[in-house]
Amino acid sequence: KILILDFGSQYTQLIARAVREANVYCEIIPYLKPFTIDASLKGIILSGSPFSVNDTNAPLAEVPEFVKDVPVLGICYGAQLTAKLYGGQVGKSNKREYGRAKLHIRQPDALLQNVTDNSQVWMSHSDSISELPVTFEVLATTESIPVAAFKQKTHDTRPLYGLQFHPEVYHSSEGKKILKNFLVNVCHCSQNWTPASFVQETIEQLKLQIGDAHVIMALSGGVDSSVAATLISRAIGDRLHGIFVDNGVLRKDEFEQVLNTYKNIGLNVTGIDAKQLFYDELKGKTDPEAKRKTIGRLFIEVFQQEAAKIPEAQFLGQGTIYPDVIESVSVHGPSVTIKSHHNVGGLPEKMHLQLVEPLRFLFKDEVRKVGLELGIPAAMIQRHPFPGPGLAIRILGDITEEKVALLQQADDIYIKALKEYSLYDTIWQAGAILLPVKSVGVMGDERTYEYTVALRAVTSVDGMTADWAHLPYEFLAHVSNEIINNVRGINRVVYDISSKPPATIEWE
Ligand code: XMP
Repeated sequence: KILILDFGSQYTQLIARAVREANVYCEIIPYLKPFTIDASLKGIILSGSPFSVNDTNAPLAEVPEFVKDVPVLGICYGAQLTAKLYGGQVGKSNKREYGRAKLHIRQPDALLQNVTDNSQVWMSHSDSISELPVTFEVLATTESIPVAAFKQKTHDTRPLYGLQFHPEVYHSSEGKKILKNFLVNVCHCSQNWTPASFVQETIEQLKLQIGDAHVIMALSGGVDSSVAATLISRAIGDRLHGIFVDNGVLRKDEFEQVLNTYKNIGLNVTGIDAKQLFYDELKGKTDPEAKRKTIGRLFIEVFQQEAAKIPEAQFLGQGTIYPDVIESVSVHGPSVTIKSHHNVGGLPEKMHLQLVEPLRFLFKDEVRKVGLELGIPAAMIQRHPFPGPGLAIRILGDITEEKVALLQQADDIYIKALKEYSLYDTIWQAGAILLPVKSVGVMGDERTYEYTVALRAVTSVDGMTADWAHLPYEFLAHVSNEIINNVRGINRVVYDISSKPPATIEWE
């Protein structure tokens, strides 16, 4: 494997994804965290950082120690740190260099094999290396900086490289090739980390971890829990007990359809119809957080009740993925903050269960690939994210069964149309929102006074920032007509054109 030492760069996860795309396994750790160098470690990559190497509290790493055993590649800050540690000079550039540059190759090298001269690279730095250590040599330059890529010339250690630009970002047109050269030509990694090998190894590990025991797991119909459950089920068969709760605020027909898909995949899943309980307890609640809390609490109650029927369960399965558990370096100082885990309401502790999290080291796109490898239908793998509190946070104000039914119909028309127009897969998340507003309309000769629905669709990478999707007018016109003509109780449709930030994706 490859280790990526994180110095707090916004691009660190992109490095990891680029390495994984080359079918090499890697992990990200904060630069402060001790690690052992053993035979499985093939190389180390140092990330960029918001710090300057000349800051008094600049984050440091023992590069000279690392290269005794494994090759090292420094990127941006990582390269500057390396140069400085060996006696080079790093100074403020005349101007902060941000954006595209052309990479002039000065010397052929295994790292730059098959890289076109003058290819585009992406720069984002305010410091640059003004003087290389004497044992280092320049491999490439750009118009504005004399050291864009370097290596250690004479060394009795393992190879040591630095890149001032960011090979991991999309705008470095041959960046992935450079990273792959480092992995294959320099570190001699075998590129055998594939969805198929992951599935095989994970099933073996799960068999070892779980033994003869039973696993219970809450399923949501979402990608992560579905893929995790399928992996566990491949390892232990029906000793996986999936529980899928109808909380009354799912999408139209979602409960039946998802249960059906689970049955077809061969999962042992029990569907629990708890709609009435949820409607009763949600009654009159208008505050978004109160709705969330109510749904969270009821879900745990229902889940525990069902789990009590499976006393032999010693494990709780969860669809936790890598971005949930990566320990990140704070940009506010060289300290490490650890994100809290996404345990369902502290359930494992309460129920004395051990966790099984087969996707703990996968990025979302990898989870999807593994899902397809497992034969899960593409329709389930490509599903948009859907919030746990479901339609409850898309019905502004209080929730009634009648409103849920209205919104389900409008949402269903919208989502089906997105699929018909081949727009669904171009969008990160979409849904309809029922507004607590009635307005006047006219249908035939009759005056109507009915609800308004807002349509929301966003493009995004991770949901942290999002742009409203520029859906074609023709499509919006079609959906608006369909909803108003078919859903009794809705006479007005609007489209949400707010980005996040400052708006959020959900309205509550
Ligand atoms: P916002 O509205 O914060 O949403 O821009 C970002 C993403 O998070 C989802 N979301 C939730 N998911 N429970 C969930 O499981 C929640 O309470 C919740 N609130 C928002 C939202 O759907 C979007 O994908």
